[in-house]
Amino acid sequence: MTLLERKLFGPGPSNPYPEATAALGLPLLGHLDPAFVALMDETCDMLRQVWGTDNARTLPISATGSAGMEAAFVNTVEDGDVVVVAVNGLFGQRMCEVASRCGAEVVPVEHAWGTPVDVDRVVAAHPSPKIIAAVHAETSTGSRSDIAALGAAVRRERPDALLLVDAVTSIGGIELRADDWGVDLGYAGTQKCLGVAPGLAPFTMGERAWERRVARPRSWYLDLNLLGGYVGEAGASGAKRTYHHTAPVAMVASLHAGLTRILDEGLPAVWARHEAAGRQLQDGLEAMGLELFAQEGARLPDLTTVRVPEGVDSAAVRGRLLEDYGIEIGAGAGEYAATVWRIGLMGHNARPDAALLVLAALGEVLGR
Ligand SMILES: Cc1ncc(COP(=O)(O)O)c(C=O)c1O
Repeated sequence: MTLLERKLFGPGPSNPYPEATAALGLPLLGHLDPAFVALMDETCDMLRQVWGTDNARTLPISATGSAGMEAAFVNTVEDGDVVVVAVNGLFGQRMCEVASRCGAEVVPVEHAWGTPVDVDRVVAAHPSPKIIAAVHAETSTGSRSDIAALGAAVRRERPDALLLVDAVTSIGGIELRADDWGVDLGYAGTQKCLGVAPGLAPFTMGERAWERRVARPRSWYLDLNLLGGYVGEAGASGAKRTYHHTAPVAMVASLHAGLTRILDEGLPAVWARHEAAGRQLQDGLEAMGLELFAQEGARLPDLTTVRVPEGVDSAAVRGRLLEDYGIEIGAGAGEYAATVWRIGLMGHNARPDAALLVLAALGEVLGR
């Protein structure tokens, strides 16, 4: 079977950075080889930089972003713990589901889809939650929430609560400063703005969360006590490694290459590149007479949501883009499946030529 080359302009995965793809073909190392241990240590160091954290416990979990979500909850939630979740899209809903399976008493704070998290309502939702959780970049709606403001409010109003943040669609694309913003616990994915294939969940856990962890989590695979030994106790270089599971060596090498690419360019430059590409795309869509979905002022640059025009068959347009141009864009999520498109310009695709290409192809298919 011949695999076709696609332009992955949907909500993820995005086309990886060429360096990340090339690294998948490097000779495979053993997962306890000193050379791999060094590669893992460097990867964790670089992850600290993209998270904006000094947390020792920063590592790539060996599974996709959803496993990062499960790791965050299963290591911190016990039966009856109160977890406040800001729900402004599909991934906030998923957090509620995962937290409740861990035994939490979940307090969802519902928002209209496309709007950012309302900090005051979230912080006021319960007097003594163990965790307050929010999605930084809601991939289902294209909206961006102000985690700096949420973190400040949590520290001020609910100082005993841990702040848990989903950074799957923000890491490596928009400003993220976990320590400055008071994020205690976070998870992400590799397949969006980090520009690496799906398969790992960059994870970070600060001291406050570590002190309040569950002693014996109900998941063996995602138990941070055990994962600490696998990446070196708490990620500290030079510590003795113990076998926990076989690290996905090739994926870690690929993540290492992607992170190197990003840090060589420099995080502010990478953020600015995403901002510029997103603006170009959103301006172009509006110039075509299309209506953006996410609330103005809270629009993500890396993931744009746009309403399907009246009378247009959403799936047919996506089908033609794929067949005629090799371009993938996403359908909407949930109740917006047929009425919204999601267009991602993430990682390697956050470029003016990519924005121009998707605008031209969409214009052609829509006859605009
Ligand atoms: C914001 C957000 N959270 C969580 C996930 C789940 O990640 P994964 O699909 O890699 O398991 C995604 C995936 O798109 C996401 O966009």
